Amino acid sequence: NPTNSQMEVNTMLERVDCRAKGGSPGFKVAILGAAGGIGQPLAMLMKMNPLVSVLHLYDVVNCPGVTADISHMDTGAVVRGFLGQQELEAALTGMELIIIPAGVPRKPGMTRDDLFNINAGIVKTLCEGIAKCCPNAIVNLISNPVNSTVPIAAEVFKRAGTYDPKKLLGVTMLDVVRANTFVAEVLGLDPREVDVPVVGGHAGATILPLLSQVKPPCSFTPDETEYLTKRIQDGGTEVVQAKAGAGSATLSMAYAAVKYADACLRGLRGDAGVVECAFVASQVTELPFFATKVRLGRTGAEEVYQLGPLNEYERVGLEKAKKELATSIQKGISFIKK
Ligand code: NAD
Ligand code: LMR
Repeated sequence: NPTNSQMEVNTMLERVDCRAKGGSPGFKVAILGAAGGIGQPLAMLMKMNPLVSVLHLYDVVNCPGVTADISHMDTGAVVRGFLGQQELEAALTGMELIIIPAGVPRKPGMTRDDLFNINAGIVKTLCEGIAKCCPNAIVNLISNPVNSTVPIAAEVFKRAGTYDPKKLLGVTMLDVVRANTFVAEVLGLDPREVDVPVVGGHAGATILPLLSQVKPPCSFTPDETEYLTKRIQDGGTEVVQAKAGAGSATLSMAYAAVKYADACLRGLRGDAGVVECAFVASQVTELPFFATKVRLGRTGAEEVYQLGPLNEYERVGLEKAKKELATSIQKGISFIKK
């Protein structure tokens, strides 16, 4: 087996070779859970991304059909499909960015934590494969409960001796996408002009939009603040209820996942000033993981930004968020340690 540094050199040489041949100079990306509700539109959108040269699609069911379908799109990325645990290592080898939407979604009446028992084991297995086959890859973790699955992934990587906190990113982009949309509605603006930092985590009260830091600068009445905060925190539940048993957000999530993955790839390429929110290893609070704005670079999350000034409403929200987060993080860590 090649060593990690050999694999990095091989990847670099392949990219140089690809450029020399006039091919796409993009990155190698794998989606784990590619045949699911998020996975399929995510695979389609990543096939359209010019920063992707190779796209590996992995799932335990239905992957050949999805792969055949996506592979007919006349875009640059080469698509390959992988089915079942026995093909996981082949799916992962040489990959530079791994996006994980594998796992079960919520039904009405469930919390994200109710998914823990099934999804914790799925994430553990996939991360063991990553530690073995592509330990230097950036990991975008979507599977819920994100507040626990990110700590699970960190513990798996620590055990394997491959943990690099800069490379493990819990995807909270959908909270930002929703916040931008709902705030734009209230302000009567185009959502593309609005930037709302959303910090904390990805479940209920742990989702903390910082409405005092919205760009462009604006102000909200107490009623607007209450309405927007609740709507952003309950955005996932709004979709789960509307789908009435047929799953949770998939299309908006695929959009958010691609927006986030594209930011990671631009960072890897060396673009300056790529900043997005994510749930990462953090020293911003006393908790080991926390979502804030993060600067993405060649080595992943190169800078984790502080919270900035909070108003009284946000300070109260932060204390509530931290309490719930502490429990979810500990649950993830204990799952691997016990
Ligand atoms: P889905 O059931 O439609 O798809 C999940 C896919 O994962 C399926 O194709 C399934 O075969 C696959 N899978 C299951 N076990 C696997 C394994 N061991 N290896 C590889 N693939 C495996 O669900 P979905 O709607 O796509 O949601 C997936 C996950 O994403 C859920 O946990 C959901 O809660 C979460 N989610 C997170 C966010 C977020 O903002 N982070 C948003 C929406 C959904
Ligand atoms: C979301 O925010 O839409 C996801 O976390 C899925 C869910 O269960 O709400």
